[in-house]
Amino acid sequence: MVYKSAILGCGPRAEFHIRAYEGLDEIELVCLCDMRADRLSNYGERFNVGRLYQDLESMLEKERPDILHIVAPPSVREEPIEMAAEYGVRGVIVEKPLALNPKQAAKIKEIAARTGIKIALNTQRRYFQTIKDLKSILDEGKIGSVEWIRCVTKGNILSMGPHMVDLLFHFTGDNFPMSVWAAANGINGRDYGHPAPANMLMRYVFPDGVTAYCEDAEDAVGTPGETDFWQHLEFNIWGSEGRAWWVQNKEWGYQSYNMPSPFIKETSWDASDIPGQREFTRAMAAWLDGREVHLNNLDTALMEFNAIMAAFLSAQSGVPVTLPAQIPVGIVELLEAGLR
Ligand SMILES: NC(=O)c1ccc[n+]([C@@H]2O[C@H](COP(=O)([O-])OP(=O)(O)OC[C@H]3O[C@@H](n4cnc5c(N)ncnc54)[C@H](O)[C@@H]3O)[C@@H](O)[C@H]2O)c1
Repeated sequence: MVYKSAILGCGPRAEFHIRAYEGLDEIELVCLCDMRADRLSNYGERFNVGRLYQDLESMLEKERPDILHIVAPPSVREEPIEMAAEYGVRGVIVEKPLALNPKQAAKIKEIAARTGIKIALNTQRRYFQTIKDLKSILDEGKIGSVEWIRCVTKGNILSMGPHMVDLLFHFTGDNFPMSVWAAANGINGRDYGHPAPANMLMRYVFPDGVTAYCEDAEDAVGTPGETDFWQHLEFNIWGSEGRAWWVQNKEWGYQSYNMPSPFIKETSWDASDIPGQREFTRAMAAWLDGREVHLNNLDTALMEFNAIMAAFLSAQSGVPVTLPAQIPVGIVELLEAGLR
């Protein structure tokens, strides 16, 4: 079966969702929606998509897509998901972050539980070939059992943070961490689009004893030599028998104690994003077919969101927080007020 899909939002990120359709036979992109006529007609012409809408409900009513991509700012999440479910959409691919606050996340959870709509959070790196290769190395025990992880990125915890936390969960086998202890300072304002602390340090402890030190900060050391702010995303993983690493736009590799020299392969953002996005989107078709659950399914995304909000709670209260955490509805405002 070939599924029909639609995209809501024709901003910069949508270009990569659209270009990922080349060579994707399971899903056909049939229409686009953006309230901004200039962006809509630009993408319609550039990518040869003829059916264009400025209003989501009109598009859903007329086109009845199976899959909707929501490539809109994070304030635009639960309403289009609910509307999509009403018009028979079966799968939603929603850009990160899942939500800006616990209320939005709870509403998305409720809609999914009530309607059965399948939701995948667009933290697409799990589908990068270099991440798959590194995950295989870890699963095969090439560095022994994982003991300690350091990860770092620069964009704040709700902009780049969801990608970092998603890979952290992936590398640790989607085991929910037991606790987080976090500190925060500074705040990125509403104009940033993803308001959150400018700088955060987090220590997550996992049930099997793995400890992760995560730095998500404008002023983080990041990846030495990297000049592009958004390319700072790096993992270093120490195991009982070696070490592995993944640096978003440079290299990944591993070395176990019995190897005379490390295994190193190049990584490139430009060469990874569209192929990874393509496999991510393809995985939605497999999920709708009932063949395989999407790696970035809503349950996982909600666990990751809880881990991020628990870090907010820890930073706000100054003490470690046990996970999964009961998050006060107003935690974002509480933390922001304290940081201003
Ligand atoms: N996964 C990644 O690697 C990655 C990379 C960049 C951005 N993103 C995420 O993608 C999302 C979108 O980013 P962007 O930079 O393209 O955003 P943007 O704000 O520039 O574009 C979003 C578009 O959606 C349209 N829109 C919003 N609400 C609408 C509605 N109700 N009806 C019709 N149109 C509507 C806006 O007019 C706008 O053109 C963000 O959440 C961002 O964090 C993800």
